[in-house]
Amino acid sequence: MNKIQLGTSNVMASQLALGMMRSSLKEASDMRLLLEKALELDMNFIDHADIYAWKNVAEELYGQVMAEAPHLRDKFLVQTKCGICSGYYDSSYQHIIESVNTSLERMHLETIDLLLLHRPDALLEPEEIAKAFDELERDGKVKYFGVCNMNPGQIKLIQKYISQPLIVNQMQMSIVHAPMIDSEIYVNMTDDHAVMRDGSLLDYTRTQGITVQAWSILQAGWKQGTFLENEAYPQLNQVLARLAEKYNVTKSAVALAWLLRHPARIQPISGTASPSHLEELTHAFDFTLTRPEWYELYLSAGRELP
Ligand SMILES: NC(=O)c1ccc[n+]([C@@H]2O[C@H](COP(=O)([O-])OP(=O)(O)OC[C@H]3O[C@@H](n4cnc5c(N)ncnc54)[C@H](OP(=O)(O)O)[C@@H]3O)[C@@H](O)[C@H]2O)c1
Repeated sequence: MNKIQLGTSNVMASQLALGMMRSSLKEASDMRLLLEKALELDMNFIDHADIYAWKNVAEELYGQVMAEAPHLRDKFLVQTKCGICSGYYDSSYQHIIESVNTSLERMHLETIDLLLLHRPDALLEPEEIAKAFDELERDGKVKYFGVCNMNPGQIKLIQKYISQPLIVNQMQMSIVHAPMIDSEIYVNMTDDHAVMRDGSLLDYTRTQGITVQAWSILQAGWKQGTFLENEAYPQLNQVLARLAEKYNVTKSAVALAWLLRHPARIQPISGTASPSHLEELTHAFDFTLTRPEWYELYLSAGRELP
């Protein structure tokens, strides 16, 4: 498994991270099997959130697994998130502190390796975030900090007030959902793909040395399920199948290889709860897509080059 440096920190993480959001994770036994497979595959990075899995139990299940299976303890870097509440977002000092304390308690941890603010909060006050981050760092409760779903302006605003570098920004990204790439290709055009939805985020993060983590790497959208075998994407599935055969891997591995081929050194997060699906994905590291193949996949999801 490839290891990458996260942002400007000295943290070396597996390039493929394991996400714990899916509601199919209901029992500690399911999570234990998944974590054992991840360890076997040399993955060392877990993406949690205070609200993940069925009834928000992901962190609790993780704590349970670590208590039951000492051989898994201290093998993973743990990232978690706070800020999404029922019906509103909350980046206040009080919420950040309370959420981290609860996460630590649930996972039986003394330190969270990386804490992310989960969504941009319209009522965000950077001074409050700075106060919370300073306290969490001073008390040894969080080592590093980052954000999710934020544009360069929002990152700059927070960074101006906090004393720790933001090392990660987690964004939705896949062959099908790639507005960050579309707008870089369709510059100055009237096509819908030219709409700049993120403030040139990929270029910004590369300039600043911030790692982009990609979520929903196999999803067609929020509610449409995966684009694999999805009849709304016949051409994409045809190309995925041809390349899967060429490289002797699954279509999922080809879809992941598309993200890995991007020079921004993206850290994709897998959301599968299935150990065998996870293993299939890791074969994306066994080959590199050629430039024409990368573009062919990009175009087969319903785009034309300008
Ligand atoms: N920051 C944010 O706002 C945000 C938002 C969403 C997600 N995330 C993070 O990103 C992670 C991944 O998101 P995601 O779950 O949407 O990612 P994903 O990897 O695109 O989707 C995983 C889903 O696809 C299914 N799937 C179907 N065929 C598959 C195959 N061949 N291989 C692998 N999976 C297959 C999986 O089912 P099986 O389990 O049956 O394989 C699972 O339900 C989450 O766990 C979370 O950590 C962050």
